[in-house]
Amino acid sequence: MALVTFTNPEYRDKTVYAVAGSHTQSILKIARENKIAINFECQDGECGTCVVKVTSIEAKDKPLMGGPLTEKEKTVLRSIGKLTKDEMEQMIVDDLPSPWRLACQMIVRDEDLRVEY
Ligand code: FES
Repeated sequence: MALVTFTNPEYRDKTVYAVAGSHTQSILKIARENKIAINFECQDGECGTCVVKVTSIEAKDKPLMGGPLTEKEKTVLRSIGKLTKDEMEQMIVDDLPSPWRLACQMIVRDEDLRVEY
């Protein structure tokens, strides 16, 4: 099971378990089930309201494995200024996802994560 720690300067950190490998639990779904106040609107990767910063906490120098950004995430993260065209291209070359994700689109895998919201 993965551990997901939600952190926000206005609230106490909260760590919850996520069922790894279910391929159905988005960050937003886990947050809502655990009464964590991540902002959201569309829940469909269109509005960008649910943007969060996700990092691996298994090892500080270890890059985030995560899943690849969805096409919706790429479009929205560029439009709200979280990813530049150059960063997007580098991300594809390095085959590593951006730390900026849409909580409604990112599915949790078997990796302990810190989610800043
Ligand atoms: Fe709209 Fe996630 S809630 S993009």
